[in-house]
Amino acid sequence: MSLPKINPTKTEAWKALEKHFQEIEERELQDFFSEDGDRAERLKIEWQDFYLDYSKNRITDETISLLLKLAEEVKLKEAINQQFSGDKINETEDRAVLHTALRDFDTMKAEVKATLQKMKSFSEEIINGNHKGFTGKAITDIVNIGIGGSHLGPEMVTEALQFYKNHLKIHFVANIDGDAVTEILNKLNPETTLFIIVSKSFTTQETIANAVVIKDWFLKYALRTDIKNHFVAVSVNEGGAKDFGISEENIFPMQNWVGGRFSLWSSVGLSICCAVGFNNFEAMLKGAFEMDNHFKKENFGNNIPVVLALISIWYNNFFKAESEAVVAYSQYLNKLVPYLQQAVMESNGKSVDRSGEKIAYQTGTIVWGNVGSNSQHAYFQLLHQGTKLIPTDFIGFSESLHGNVENHNILIANFFAQTEALWEGTHNKSVENAFKLFEGYKPTNTLLIKKLTPKNLGSLIALYEHKLFVQGIIWNIFSYDQWGVELGKTVAKGTLNAIENNDISNLKNDSTKNLIKQVSLFQK
Ligand code: F6P
Repeated sequence: MSLPKINPTKTEAWKALEKHFQEIEERELQDFFSEDGDRAERLKIEWQDFYLDYSKNRITDETISLLLKLAEEVKLKEAINQQFSGDKINETEDRAVLHTALRDFDTMKAEVKATLQKMKSFSEEIINGNHKGFTGKAITDIVNIGIGGSHLGPEMVTEALQFYKNHLKIHFVANIDGDAVTEILNKLNPETTLFIIVSKSFTTQETIANAVVIKDWFLKYALRTDIKNHFVAVSVNEGGAKDFGISEENIFPMQNWVGGRFSLWSSVGLSICCAVGFNNFEAMLKGAFEMDNHFKKENFGNNIPVVLALISIWYNNFFKAESEAVVAYSQYLNKLVPYLQQAVMESNGKSVDRSGEKIAYQTGTIVWGNVGSNSQHAYFQLLHQGTKLIPTDFIGFSESLHGNVENHNILIANFFAQTEALWEGTHNKSVENAFKLFEGYKPTNTLLIKKLTPKNLGSLIALYEHKLFVQGIIWNIFSYDQWGVELGKTVAKGTLNAIENNDISNLKNDSTKNLIKQVSLFQK
């Protein structure tokens, strides 16, 4: 069954929200807390190790109830059921969207179980040193060769779970930039390195070109028959992986119903398994599964992904905010934003609705940010006193993993202080001049999580996956395709051809022609 095709702006709730927005805009903003005694008590959601405080937002109970009505009118509940039951909701690619099936411990598909088992045994052999390289030495370094969803998830998670890491060193080759590849190869010993080529399609230009460079480098030291101890592949395209020279037993399968940017739960997570061990990987899957159940079963008003998605819609479509920031007060989460950028922006950066009509309202938010407290000393000035409204998610953990309580207290103090300063501004305080005035009422969500464990990380990632899904449903777009990346790939084939053959005659654009001419001048 296909997803409902409802223009959100034509719903009763949307019209009511437009009217309500005028009232909120005109209203004395300071009323939000002072006239609403138990606001902080009410506008929060507690779930397992998560505590979401969304009270510092320009919303009232009426806003929430109208947003919930919107969710109902666009048939969100039905859409969630369709996704989880494997309907082909990725209509433009004629595919189901079932990354949730990779962590469904109630009814796990046999093929998922088999892949997990293969990942478990393989990663254990690598970690315990039983798997030997071509000179009989144990593996010390793992290189994940892949880009986009075949890179960002594994890198974000291995970074986030550093505390749980074993002795193996994990590297990521993603960029086609030859200097980047060389920098990594210079650090490696071919005798003790395992390369994991991760590409759902096994046709991605960057990944295949990098894999070829790396294989050639490896063959300077080893024989072709040694490839089987040092190269494995993760792909849907078994034929492509075999043609590259990967032996059948070294191919970790993937399913077509797993989108690249949602694939870290699949065999794409092999580098994660190697880095932190299968048990931690499984704990992460379980955390995601728990969040899936919360998302599926909880009332929308008490449902973390749904509430966060609705608040984001409120700012995006009514306040016309164009971006939102994510600031995690944990150095371990320093790769969270690039990961979310692909997840959110590749999914919801669409301007045609599910009926194929051009959209006349804002869709996909721009996601940006970095870790706190570093961000405070970089771009927070703009959040506090700039002209743009930038709703921000603040994420932090109450426990320090290494037990450095002193630093952790300062970290948390800053985490909370920033949301307060952004909201309260300098109201009721006298300031010397306009330059020192903070308007306040800058909206934030605070997500306080007990501890950065593999399980809680899994829940956190799943939370954002569901949030973006809800937004895609409301915006009436297809969140699971990414046709927008195709044109650039085709054009790049033409420009490469022109550069390699020193012939720009087939190029269309004069600016590009000049740039290519200039490159050859510079290269002389
Ligand atoms: O070009 C975008 C994209 O298709 C992403 O969606 C995907 O994660 C990435 O390229 C890598 O694709 P693959 O895993 O097939 O190499």
